[in-house]
Amino acid sequence: MEVLILLGAPGAGKGTAASRLVSRLNVRHVSSGDLLRQAVKQGTAAGKEAEGYMKRGELVPDALIGRIIADLLAAGGADAKYLLDGFPRTVAQAEMLERVVLGQGGHIRAAVVLDVDEAILIDRLAGRRVCSKCAAGYHVRNMPPKVADVCDACGSALVQRPDDNPETVRNRLAVFNKQTAPLIAWYRERQALARVEGAAGTADDVAERIVQALQ
Ligand code: AP5
Repeated sequence: MEVLILLGAPGAGKGTAASRLVSRLNVRHVSSGDLLRQAVKQGTAAGKEAEGYMKRGELVPDALIGRIIADLLAAGGADAKYLLDGFPRTVAQAEMLERVVLGQGGHIRAAVVLDVDEAILIDRLAGRRVCSKCAAGYHVRNMPPKVADVCDACGSALVQRPDDNPETVRNRLAVFNKQTAPLIAWYRERQALARVEGAAGTADDVAERIVQALQ
């Protein structure tokens, strides 16, 4: 098993980059946020537990998301290659991931952090629209759909994520700085960190810089 991690603040472009890297790197994209939103939508026990935290822009408990990710990795088999987007997000999650991956004879290839200034993050989240069915992501100005408010991929309606309102975005950024940013030093100490400029150029340019950083 090989695991590549995308780290970055809310709106840094993790999901957008991941959608461009899946075929280039031949990896399975695992978004912890998408898994949790799906659980909330389906009304599972995990979804019910996660919902309040997500609405407030707080992290869900480590044990809850850790279980979901560990089960998914265990089911993938020894040859699977994963691109994790949004996990780990705390040092406890990083330690748990390391245990699970090493325990299955796998390795962590790298943790790539996307660097983007806060003003750009806020603008990206304010203008983000997502497909209500397939979760494809757009931006009203940077990456508009061909037809306003309609998903190019599946034709369903685009909506704003409930946690993209200004108050929750402020909280999500504060939570990132406090709980997730320490992971940058954690992976640097393990010589597994790659830093990539996440704002300049197009989303394709960002994906290209990630590929280059991994060589
Ligand atoms: P999650 O869904 O992971 O949200 P996030 O980390 O806040 O990240 P986002 O999805 O907001 O941003 P992104 O970096 O993917 O940016 P995107 O590509 O969409 O988590 C949501 C919640 O779930 C958390 O708050 C927490 O409650 C819970 N959760 C999830 N994982 C957890 C964990 N491990 N532990 C505990 N709780 C967890 O891009 C943003 C916008 O910018 C888009 O509009 C896009 O079109 C645009 N854009 C992207 N790239 C570019 C570019 N290069 N140029 C121009 N525009 C761009």
